[in-house]
Amino acid sequence: MDRPVRVLFVCLGNICRSPTAHGVFLKRVADAGLADQIEVDSCGTGGWHVGERPDRRATAAAASRGYQLDSLRARQLTLEDFGFYDYILPMDRSNMADIHGLASGLSESDIKQDQVVRLFLSFAADEFDEVEVPDPYYGGDQGFEHVLDLIESAATGLLADIQARM
Ligand code: 4NP
Repeated sequence: MDRPVRVLFVCLGNICRSPTAHGVFLKRVADAGLADQIEVDSCGTGGWHVGERPDRRATAAAASRGYQLDSLRARQLTLEDFGFYDYILPMDRSNMADIHGLASGLSESDIKQDQVVRLFLSFAADEFDEVEVPDPYYGGDQGFEHVLDLIESAATGLLADIQARM
């Protein structure tokens, strides 16, 4: 492929779930030797945490499994993202509804051709019944471990999906 595949993970605040997906998937891409061919970013549909580091509970849980989130900073989803990314991957149905709401104001020429907008967990193995990554923000540390379990499974499936198209 002559241009990078671009992947954008989306949650509400961009401080818990989508930065976790971002860090996990970046490592998968690097480990597969595909860092030049797959670009990764994350954002939130909301703007409350723009410029902030990921939640320290998310950073700590990720670090214990070898994923670095320290350098990430929160940003909000923009209209320009629809013209840039090949995969836009929300964590839950509410994120998906917000994405569709924003995109509804765009014309077809503003949206990247063949863009995939899918719940991220649709790429996960069948071992999980869930279709959404639950928001861990108001829960305990165990919630962040579960988020990682789900995200690791979906990251494996996503990488396989991208490689099959390369
Ligand atoms: P995230 O979690 O969407 O996974 O980053 C949240 C972080 C902050 C808030 C909500 C969810 N908040 O309402 O501030």
